[in-house]
Amino acid sequence: MSWTRYLLAAAVAGAIGAAAVAQTHYMPGPQNIDLPADWQQRFIRYATVDNAARKIIRNLYVNPDALAAARPGQPLPYGTLIVMADQRARLGADGNPLLDQSGRFIPEPGWIAIAAQEKRQGWGEGYAANIRNGEWEYARFNGDGSRNNAPVEACFTCHLGTRAQQDFAFNFWDYVRDRR
Ligand code: HEC
Repeated sequence: MSWTRYLLAAAVAGAIGAAAVAQTHYMPGPQNIDLPADWQQRFIRYATVDNAARKIIRNLYVNPDALAAARPGQPLPYGTLIVMADQRARLGADGNPLLDQSGRFIPEPGWIAIAAQEKRQGWGEGYAANIRNGEWEYARFNGDGSRNNAPVEACFTCHLGTRAQQDFAFNFWDYVRDRR
């Protein structure tokens, strides 16, 4: 190939490469987070919280790579995807959650709602400083895993206001800090 033809070919390849990058360019928003199809098989449930006020059980899952890479007191690894899946608690005749022999709520089968937060390098660009949560995005899903398009502003505001010093995470930060 002559030099001119080589340079032309390289320029075309470069332009195609740039177009591919432009196509995948980051845009802020919940659409960045996908629930992996196999998350229920693959992710690790690191905590389960009985929420008496809401009469629900919150199941907290994280992807195994993040669980392995996270270090106490350190910013959480890129690629961390935390999934919080809620179940209804079984209620007694008095309308209060029934307890099992360990004093824990008894879950009704199936998820009623799923919330997710994910951190990736370069995410967060485009959010105003008073809402940006570092490099985290938030998303809501319905119990069946389909996307729930209700707004996510409140997710940013509350996590920013309460947990900015813990890399915007709650239980997972504490779990990593306390595990041995
Ligand atoms: C009013 C405050 C508040 C709002 C709003 C809020 N969260 Fe949270 N979030 C919490 C608290 C508190 C926890 C700890 C779990 C618990 O006690 O329910 C939590 C935990 C989580 C977790 C598990 C994190 C971890 O570190 O273990 C995820 C994921 C999450 N929230 C996503 C969301 C998403 C998505 C939204 C918006 C749809 C949202 N949150 C809105 C307060 C909030």
